[in-house]
Amino acid sequence: MRDWHINSVGSLEPGQDADDFDLPDGDYRLYRFLTELEDLQTEVTNETAFLKQLCPMVRRLLTRSFWLQGAFKEPNPDTGWSVEMLYDEPDFPLTVQMVAWQPGTVSPIHNHAAWGLVAFVDGLEKNIFWQEQVDGHLAKVGEHIFEAGDIVTFLPESIHHIEATGKDTVISFNIYGKTDYQKRFKFDPKTHQKTLF
Ligand SMILES: [Fe+2]
Repeated sequence: MRDWHINSVGSLEPGQDADDFDLPDGDYRLYRFLTELEDLQTEVTNETAFLKQLCPMVRRLLTRSFWLQGAFKEPNPDTGWSVEMLYDEPDFPLTVQMVAWQPGTVSPIHNHAAWGLVAFVDGLEKNIFWQEQVDGHLAKVGEHIFEAGDIVTFLPESIHHIEATGKDTVISFNIYGKTDYQKRFKFDPKTHQKTLF
């Protein structure tokens, strides 16, 4: 269990070990977390540095506001996934959501065109990382199976797809920054076509 950071070319870098995390005393509620998140985003403009500082705040939140870990919807049997939006405000570029993936579900290859943080609460999620080549082809650059207690961060240009591996529903807490919808793509690995979504 640790923090992980995916850089702009799809490489996975290990961050802080969960064993080295010092849990502060006292309550830590969602509204306080959101306030501190907004402050941090203003203070730390480098996205990589910002995401590294966000991880311990999320670890604290999911421990001190434990209810969040159960605030998900069962996956839709038709699509294999579900999203429970916990925070989304018009004209404010942050969303907080719980995502659930039914075992065996595979996502399309995509970027997010926003910074992102995913904290795993249950199940095993295999992430496959891709990098776009100069000729437009996609190259697989790595993979990793995340487990409960792992936190992974993404940069806007990070490309991945996921597989809900293992036998349990994959539950994760997700935060995304402002999405640039002109740059958010799904990628077809066979035709090398990009589709805005
Ligand atoms: Fe994703």
